[in-house]
Amino acid sequence: MKRIVVATQNKGKVKEIKEMLEGLPVEVKTMGEVGIDVDVEETGSTFEENAVLKAEAISKMVDALVIADDSGLEIDYLNKEPGVYSARYLGKDTPYEVKNQIILDRLKDVPKEKRTARFVCAMALCEANKETFIARGVIEGYIGYQSEGENGFGYDPIFFTDELGTSTANISMEEKNKISHRAKALKQIIEKIKERI
Ligand code: IMP
Repeated sequence: MKRIVVATQNKGKVKEIKEMLEGLPVEVKTMGEVGIDVDVEETGSTFEENAVLKAEAISKMVDALVIADDSGLEIDYLNKEPGVYSARYLGKDTPYEVKNQIILDRLKDVPKEKRTARFVCAMALCEANKETFIARGVIEGYIGYQSEGENGFGYDPIFFTDELGTSTANISMEEKNKISHRAKALKQIIEKIKERI
């Protein structure tokens, strides 16, 4: 049975990966479950660099396939900020209601066609003696004129898509998991894992 370690403390991500791998001869573990407690510094300048940094660092510590990801929001009007700094943007501990309001204020009076934005997720799959595989998932949308919805997390209340007609905080977790940047990257990773077992 192949072991897969997901380089995250986020139980939601692990659950999603477990569900997508159901029926395959693999066991999915969190870092905690295999006794690893390290925080790999995200020093890369792209989502891909950070995902690879994390996956390769953890891969040196376990005899397993390792999956790591890095994600964030790019707002074109703000020169693709917050980008790789999404979690730290406007202060790591600043509540998202405050961060989102600041972004809405910065985009006040900006017409819809200039409010384009996207959630990006880079996911890396690393295994000893194999080339690291990198996948990118993207969901295109725009920054709304006000916050909407109570679900999701982070920048979801201000991120809208035309297809949804609302924000990604205004749909259920099941719906979001079908269309999200993470789901799109994960699908490519799962295909790669299937090739390797
Ligand atoms: P990480 O990849 O888990 O480090 O996430 C980086 C940051 O990007 C999060 O803290 C959020 O600010 C933002 N982010 C990533 N994905 C999403 C999403 O699906 N919704 C809202 N914010 C997100």
